[in-house]
Amino acid sequence: MKFFIDTANLDQIREAQDLGILDGVTTNPSLMAKEGIQGEQNILGHYVTICNIVTGDVSAEVISTDFEGMIREGEKLAGLHPRIVVKVPVTREGIKAIRHFSGLNIRTNCTLIFSVGQALLAAKAGATYVSPFIGRLDDISVDGVGLVRQIVEMYQYYQFDTQVIGASIRHSMHILQCAEAGADVVTCPLQSILGLLDHPLTTAGLQKFLSDYKKLNG
Ligand code: E4P
Repeated sequence: MKFFIDTANLDQIREAQDLGILDGVTTNPSLMAKEGIQGEQNILGHYVTICNIVTGDVSAEVISTDFEGMIREGEKLAGLHPRIVVKVPVTREGIKAIRHFSGLNIRTNCTLIFSVGQALLAAKAGATYVSPFIGRLDDISVDGVGLVRQIVEMYQYYQFDTQVIGASIRHSMHILQCAEAGADVVTCPLQSILGLLDHPLTTAGLQKFLSDYKKLNG
């Protein structure tokens, strides 16, 4: 399973990259706004900066809602760097745009997926990735990881190449559940990735090893 970090924060992206386990980055307009990135040139520049930090795919989302606008924006984003993946919402116009990008070999991440039907249409349109939002489904008492599992099974049945990204991850347990469900990728906040390392027996065990060493070696 690949690990993407879901942020536009450069320090967190560097920290995850330094861990040596990072396979890519996803951003969205809200995450860019959180970092105070505004104005087209600054936004485009920020994507290039991220691409220069990481070695994997970087999802950059279109803001337009109409087909022509999505195409214009997506082609500009894809031209920024070979690692850019154009992130497109799963709307009618978005599906048409994904089909267009697919024909140009521009890779896409179909976002805001909340149902198997949406994931089916995205795959038929040629999406490289789909992003089912786990946390936001859990928030309304719908099983988010269950959706990931259903999409993975459907893609396997029909042998689609589209990869499933477990998105809207809220905690480390979501990551483990995505792994069990067979997700190709999880995109997570840094804290959820680091949370996988936490275990009280590891902390206690390490303390004991070090104190036993010090008893003999000073
Ligand atoms: C997916 O790529 C989105 O950026 C993200 O996972 C949304 O997560 P949220 O529900 O925490 O905003």
